[in-house]
Amino acid sequence: MSSLKHKNVLVVGGSEGIGLAVAQAAQAAGAQVYVASRSEHKLTKASAVLGSSALTFPVDFTDESSVQRLFQHLPAVDHLIITAIAKTEARRVADLSVAEAQMWFAAKFWGAYTVVRHALPKLATDGSITLFSGNFSVRPSQGWSVLASANGAIESFGRSLAVELAPVRVNVIRPGLVQTPAYSEMPAEARREMFQQYESVVPARKAGLPEEIAQAVVFAITNPYMTGSVLTLDGGARLV
Ligand SMILES: NC(=O)c1ccc[n+]([C@@H]2O[C@H](COP(=O)([O-])OP(=O)(O)OC[C@H]3O[C@@H](n4cnc5c(N)ncnc54)[C@H](OP(=O)(O)O)[C@@H]3O)[C@@H](O)[C@H]2O)c1
Repeated sequence: MSSLKHKNVLVVGGSEGIGLAVAQAAQAAGAQVYVASRSEHKLTKASAVLGSSALTFPVDFTDESSVQRLFQHLPAVDHLIITAIAKTEARRVADLSVAEAQMWFAAKFWGAYTVVRHALPKLATDGSITLFSGNFSVRPSQGWSVLASANGAIESFGRSLAVELAPVRVNVIRPGLVQTPAYSEMPAEARREMFQQYESVVPARKAGLPEEIAQAVVFAITNPYMTGSVLTLDGGARLV
């Protein structure tokens, strides 16, 4: 395994949830960590968790000029991880306009594409990119067709990039349900029910924790033989 000592690790979407846990795990493994997301407030909270050695940058990955500005301010990047996603909600196709569907798709797939595109000049040839999909790509759920489609596109994009950008390694993490602020706007009772239902069905009998996903990211970015892979951490949800 390669080490993260003296490596620059950029987490786009790293101010909370899985991204923040990835930043913490990379930092614990010796990396210089850079965290980017939209809200100054969340970036300040992330700084308090990570300490002053971690540097934070504002970026909206759905805005290409914002992404360009981010990379103007960054040094070379060894490992790029993209966890950013805008908050979405379950909505059937019949109730979702084309414009809204495109916006949700953009806030996952095109955001990741834009970050990868502008990271390329700064990316080390022995480095890596880690993208995030989600288990809706293989285990659909009613109302989530756009997110499922974006997740499927991310997985195809990751495989294509692994070939096109070689020897840069590119992998995709496919989480199942993970306890993160992504669900903070749900009514508490509905959230509790969703987690209980998931935990009663999946073989692992639990939902994921951000640090469990972060452990897999550190594995993916430090393993020199791993590229073009989709790593599933869903408690076995895809099997039942
Ligand atoms: N949690 C789950 O159950 C689950 C399940 C399957 C897949 N996943 C995938 O795992 C990844 C991480 O999810 P999570 O639950 O950790 O999400 P989260 O807790 O909602 O965190 C999302 C992060 O992305 C940032 N972000 C949102 N929109 C952005 C934008 N336009 N530009 C830049 N940054 C932006 C947010 O900060 P700002 O708001 O400040 O920008 C925040 O730091 C996502 O790709 C998600 O689809 C999660």
